[in-house]
Amino acid sequence: MSSPIKRVLKVFVWLVGFLVVILGCLWGYVQLRWDAPVSRPVTELTAPSDSASIEWGKEIFTYRSHCWTCHQAQFSAEYTTPSGGMLFDLTEIGPGFGKWYSRNLTPDMETGLGGWTDGEIVRALREGLRKDGTPLFPVMPIDWYHGMADDDALAVVAYLRTLPPVEHKVPERQPSFPAKALFTFGVMGPKPAVTKPIVAPPRGVTAEYGKYLSNNLADCADCHTPRDLQDGHFFVDQMFAGSSFPFGGGDEGPILAHARNISPDVETGIGSWSEEDFLAAVTTGMRPDSTVLAPIMPYSLYKFWDEDDLRAIYAYLKSIPAVSRTTPALGFEPRLTDARGAERGELIFQSRCRTCHGDKGLGALPTNVHLADVLPSLDDTDLTEFIQNGQLNLRMPAFGKTLNESELTDLIAYLRTIETPDQAAGDPESN
Ligand code: HEC
Ligand code: HEC
Ligand code: HEC
Repeated sequence: MSSPIKRVLKVFVWLVGFLVVILGCLWGYVQLRWDAPVSRPVTELTAPSDSASIEWGKEIFTYRSHCWTCHQAQFSAEYTTPSGGMLFDLTEIGPGFGKWYSRNLTPDMETGLGGWTDGEIVRALREGLRKDGTPLFPVMPIDWYHGMADDDALAVVAYLRTLPPVEHKVPERQPSFPAKALFTFGVMGPKPAVTKPIVAPPRGVTAEYGKYLSNNLADCADCHTPRDLQDGHFFVDQMFAGSSFPFGGGDEGPILAHARNISPDVETGIGSWSEEDFLAAVTTGMRPDSTVLAPIMPYSLYKFWDEDDLRAIYAYLKSIPAVSRTTPALGFEPRLTDARGAERGELIFQSRCRTCHGDKGLGALPTNVHLADVLPSLDDTDLTEFIQNGQLNLRMPAFGKTLNESELTDLIAYLRTIETPDQAAGDPESN
C-alpha cells in the first residue's frame, strides 16, 4: 500500500473515532443531566383549612381542572382517589417522548405528597418542579397552571390534605432519548419562578375572568391550542384554534377526537354560535347541529359549573383573534370498526355513555342510577327512542343524530347483557 492512501485512511479512522467519542460524551451528558435538580427557593405558602376553601379546592380538583381524571391509577369514569399511576404513552407523538405516569397526590408519606410542604405542591403545579427540584414533563398543563392564582392553588392543596393517604408507588417514568435531550438543552423544562403573589381577576361575567378560567384554571387552552409536536411548545398566536393531535383511544375508548377550533372564526371556529349554543355544547355536549361531542371533551363535568363562569369564558372566546384552521374529523380505532353486535355495542357504550353512566352502567359522577335496574322497564322501542331523544333537562344528550340505527341496535344488544353486581353475584333477592 502506498503511503498517501495509508495516511488518508489513518485520518479517516481518527475522524470516525473522534465523532464516536463526541457522540458518546453527548449521550452520556444527556443521560446524566436531563433531570438534574434545579436549585431554586420555594416560596413559603400556607394552605387554608376552613371548609369553604376545602370545598372550592374540591370543586377545582373535580370539575374545573379535573386533576383527578389524570391522577387516577388507570382510566375510570368513576371518581377515584388520586393515587396516581395512569400511563401517558407518548411514544407515537412527535419524535416519541416515552412513557410517563401521573403521580400519587394523596398525603401518603412515602409514595404521595405527605412529605411535601404546601409551597412545594404549588411550585410543582406552577413551575413544573418536584420537591427535589427535578423537572416535571408537561403532560400536566404546567404552561397554563403557571398563571394559577395563589388562593386557587392553595385551595386545591387544602383539599388534597383531606384525602385518605393511599400507599401506591407509581412506575418510574421512561423518557425517550429525544425527551431527555429537550430537557437537557432547556427546550423543555421548568417555567420561570413565580416570585410574586398571583391574584385572580374578580369573579364575574367578564372576558378577563373568562380568560383566567379557560387558560389558567380549567384546561380549555391546554387541549384546544395547537402545539409544535416536535418540542411541545404551544402556538400562542393561534389560541384555541384546535389541538394538533387527537385525544382518546386506548383505555379511554375507541374514538379519536381532535379538540376543535373554538376561536371566533365563522367558518372553522365557533364564530357563528350564540351564547346559548355555546352553553348547550359545553354543558350537555349537544352541538347546534344536534350531534353529540365525544366525551373526551369533559362536558359531563362542566355541567356542574356555575353558569356565569361559562358565560365569562364565552365572553373571552368572543374577544380573541379568529384563526382559520380546520381539525380532522373523528377517527375510530379498528377494534370499533371491525366489531359487530353486542361486542360493538360495548365499545360504543365505552366511548359514548361511560363517562356519565360508569363501567357496566354502575354509575359515575353525573348520574349514579344503575342502568341494569331501570332497563327491564323499557322495551327495545322505548329504549331506542329514549337514547335518540335524550333527556336534556337532566343533561342526558340526544343521540339521534350521532348513532345510526345499526349502532343503536348493537348498543341495545350490549345494554341487555349488563347486570347489577347483585345479579352478577347470583343474589336470589334480585332478578
Ligand atoms: C393532563 C393530565 C394531568 C392533569 C390535568 C393534571 N396532572 Fe398533575 N401530573 C400529571 C403527570 C403525568 C405528572 C407526572 C409528570 C412527570 O413524571 O414528569 C403529574 C405530576 C403532578 C405533581 C408532582 C407530584 C410528584 O410526585 O412528582 C403534582 C403535585 C400534580 N401533578 C398535581 C396536580 C394537580 C393539583 C392538578 C390539577 C390542578 C393536576 N396535577 C392536573 C398529569 C396531570
Ligand atoms: C381533555 C381535552 C379537552 C378539554 C380540557 C376541553 N376540551 Fe373542548 N373539546 C375537546 C375535544 C376533543 C372536542 C371535540 C369533540 C368531538 O369532535 O366530538 C372538543 C370540543 C369542544 C367544543 C365544540 C366545538 C365544535 O365546533 O363542535 C367546544 C365549544 C369546547 N370544546 C369548549 C371547551 C371549553 C370552553 C373548555 C374548558 C372549559 C374545553 N372545551 C375543554 C377536548 C377538550
Ligand atoms: C352527559 C352525561 C350522559 C351521557 C353521555 C349519557 N347519559 Fe344516559 N343519562 C344521563 C342522566 C343524567 C340520566 C338521568 C338519570 C337519572 O335519573 O339520574 C340518564 C338516563 C339514561 C337512561 C334512563 C335511566 C332511567 O332512569 O330511566 C338510559 C337508558 C340511558 N341514560 C342510557 C344512555 C346511553 C345508552 C348512553 C350512551 C349512548 C347515555 N345514556 C349517555 C346522562 C348521560
